[in-house]
Amino acid sequence: TQFEAKFPKNFYWGGATAANQIEGGFDEGGKGLSAADFVEYIPKDQRTKDNAMEITSEQIRKALSGESTARYPKREGIDFYHHYKEDIALLAEMGFTAFRLSIHWARIFPNGYDEEPNEAGLQFYDNVFAELKKYNIEPIVTLSHYETPYGLTEKYNGWVGREVIDHFVHYAETVFTRYKDKVQYWISFNEINMITISPFTGGGVISDKEANSMQARYQGLHHQFVASSLATKKLHEIIPDGKMGCMLARMSHYPNTPNPADVIKAQKDNQENLFFTDVHVRGEYPKYMDRFFIENNIEIIKATGDDEILMQHPVDYITISYYMSMLSSASPEGERTEGNLMNSLKNPYLEASEWGWQIDPIGLRVVLNEMYDRYQVPIFMVENGLGAYDKVEEDGSIHDHYRIDYLRKHIEQMKEAVGDGVELMGYLAWGPIDLVSMSTSEMSKRYGFIYVDKDDEGNGSLERSRKDSFYWYKKAIESNGEVL
Ligand code: BG6
Repeated sequence: TQFEAKFPKNFYWGGATAANQIEGGFDEGGKGLSAADFVEYIPKDQRTKDNAMEITSEQIRKALSGESTARYPKREGIDFYHHYKEDIALLAEMGFTAFRLSIHWARIFPNGYDEEPNEAGLQFYDNVFAELKKYNIEPIVTLSHYETPYGLTEKYNGWVGREVIDHFVHYAETVFTRYKDKVQYWISFNEINMITISPFTGGGVISDKEANSMQARYQGLHHQFVASSLATKKLHEIIPDGKMGCMLARMSHYPNTPNPADVIKAQKDNQENLFFTDVHVRGEYPKYMDRFFIENNIEIIKATGDDEILMQHPVDYITISYYMSMLSSASPEGERTEGNLMNSLKNPYLEASEWGWQIDPIGLRVVLNEMYDRYQVPIFMVENGLGAYDKVEEDGSIHDHYRIDYLRKHIEQMKEAVGDGVELMGYLAWGPIDLVSMSTSEMSKRYGFIYVDKDDEGNGSLERSRKDSFYWYKKAIESNGEVL
């Protein structure tokens, strides 16, 4: 019998953003500085994976003293801070039923450790949520998306300090109480694996201040795990039908060849990635990590009660970002390509984006099946998309067929995964409106259905316009993923 996969009726469709990549207004409304405000724009020819995201003590000193001549694009974003009404109206025009945004922690607690929240910051998100409500768009809210307040870096070197747990829980409690009638779906930490890859981005941790950087990364991560569980506890007390999700940048690894040495390497690489969701969902550190910690000279310092906290408050749902897949090989040889967070060997069966990220729609079906098999917990796809250069034609139109092609293929495979039995809550395309790139701080690496007139140097009118993909996604949503 012919089988036809379909999305469920209540499936959420929309897009995802982060405050630091869209808002701007970095010093308006009483906001304090956060990690993202220190990320410099480095032109492509001078950029390396490290200098694009990791920040040194010296760079911070220069930024604070005014000596730096660098540009900080995440301070400007696309000025959503002043354009949110217009932007949300455009998302509504596409038929969005969900929109993911983060609350910029430093807008609510400018230093991170303040006792009292900043009312202007709270009011800003009240306004945003009211606007979403107008169009019946469900907000999906991330508490921490690379926006650790700088005050916490100064005082504790970010998440390395156990004290940050309490400050985070105080922040979470404050926003749960304030928005309890407005937001049901929450995500604690965006791509919680980031702190182990880029500790400043993921946790406001300046590496050059730490003697054992691996230790600092995984200790900071432990604090985030505990903070996430405590926030989940608070959420359930304050918003009884509130749902807390964790978020993983799913780095799926295939063995490079059928050589068992490659297979075991791929299995280990996958474990190192699934470790994060294992803790969030199963409530305990998996045994396989003991060996990893010993081999990397890491000793996680736990306080009494931490294990119980993790066990008692697992997440309600899982969210992932998925952009690409990777290859694992026991031998270090071979041609490599770039990726989000990590680079990989080149897969000869896959094409790659202009930034070297290997495009693998079937891999998404694999990942969704695997994760559902492992956890039997609902999954929300909260990031997926293609970063690409767009060309504006003379008449202002933008023919982004490459983006449509990428999204269509991924949505098709996601539909197959639903057909395979995966409980999928919704699909949020990354950057539905062009925004500042996380890894490169470029504007020219665009993900949007909506074009924003701004270039890498910060020039442009900020005018918004509809790309071809805008009309395509509108139809996809209208037909619940039938017309692609
Ligand atoms: C994810 C992040 O890793 O990938 C986003 O959660 C980011 O913040 C997205 O923007 C795409 O990455 P990039 O580097 O192309 O912006």
